[in-house]
Amino acid sequence: MIPYGRQSISEEDIQAVVDTLKSDFLTQGPAVPAFEKALATYCNVPHAVATNSATSALHIACLALDVKAGDRVWTSSISFVASGNCALYCGATVDFVDVEPDTGLMSVKALAAKLQQAAANNTLPKVLIPVHLAGHSCAMQQISTLCRPYGIRIIEDASHAIGGSYLQHKIGSCQFSDITVFSFHPVKIITTAEGGMALTKDLTLAARMQLLRSHGITRNPEDMTEVSHGPWYYQQVELGLNYRMTDLQAALGLSQLKRLDTFVAKRLAAVARYRSLLQNLPLDLPEECPAGQSAWHLYIIKLHDENRRLAVFEALRNAGIGVNVHYIPIHTQPYYQQLGFQWGDLPQAEDFYSRIISLPLYADLTAEQQHQVASALQDACKE
Ligand SMILES: Cc1ncc(COP(=O)(O)O)c(C=O)c1O
Repeated sequence: MIPYGRQSISEEDIQAVVDTLKSDFLTQGPAVPAFEKALATYCNVPHAVATNSATSALHIACLALDVKAGDRVWTSSISFVASGNCALYCGATVDFVDVEPDTGLMSVKALAAKLQQAAANNTLPKVLIPVHLAGHSCAMQQISTLCRPYGIRIIEDASHAIGGSYLQHKIGSCQFSDITVFSFHPVKIITTAEGGMALTKDLTLAARMQLLRSHGITRNPEDMTEVSHGPWYYQQVELGLNYRMTDLQAALGLSQLKRLDTFVAKRLAAVARYRSLLQNLPLDLPEECPAGQSAWHLYIIKLHDENRRLAVFEALRNAGIGVNVHYIPIHTQPYYQQLGFQWGDLPQAEDFYSRIISLPLYADLTAEQQHQVASALQDACKE
């Protein structure tokens, strides 16, 4: 089976992890701050806080922005459930902005209309979480212009988008947001097995996230409520979590980061090859976002006839192509239906979902494998 995504692990990556295994620190050692610094430098942003997943990073990002019971958070329904769950962990309510029909990205028009209505009803969100689906940046400039007058804070869920850019800025630079979150799950652009990172320009937010990822414990005398008892002393100053990344993960991340641009270049080459192989089929191919460079995490095709999706999907799986669907709209999940959402709430997201299939796309995907995918898809479309 050709998977839809997979990691690329080199001998250097393996050696980096082995070296850390032989070192004094498996966790809370030097690799985590080194990875944070390297990624912050890559993204041209002052602060980066490593976590054990993007889900954790989204959670502490919401907490750092004071999301709590009674607050509202809006995100996109065409995403992994973590984009909405992070707000629920904080006791807030979640709502969804509908998406652009072509890309599945948060629709600026739908956001403008929803904000206008919420302003009139006094139901504005505290935080908006746009999701850079497939690695394509949302229209962040327009989104931040819409949010600013209301003081709505923005977390970019860039789980798919490390290595991409938007208006000449690396995604992660937080030009149009308060915090940006990356995921390092193995199917993503670079991996630490499990892992995430929250980046910000704001020192206070960074300090808060650092505290929250490790039990709310500080060793900094300036943050303590009484004079330190001695060198062993620490204080828990708020209720945090254990969301720490290990040094093994960070060592892998640091090593992978060296190849990030190569990974994105290989993905771009694979996208160009698909474009030439998949001509004249009854489907839409994904387009590059005009305002930036996608990191191309996913290659999502959109069938013209939604009634053909299941048959095409099954034919591809039967041909050994590990296709997938990104995503089942979050608001249709049973847990979210219990919260009051239902099919019909977000027509564009639901239409997008009904037509899409993610074809294999990863750095080490070969031209031969892509030919196999293309010929299986051509056959599937004919059946
Ligand atoms: C858009 C999006 N947000 C958040 C997450 C959560 O990432 P993680 O698995 O690192 O917790 C994912 C993971 O697939 C994702 O795709």
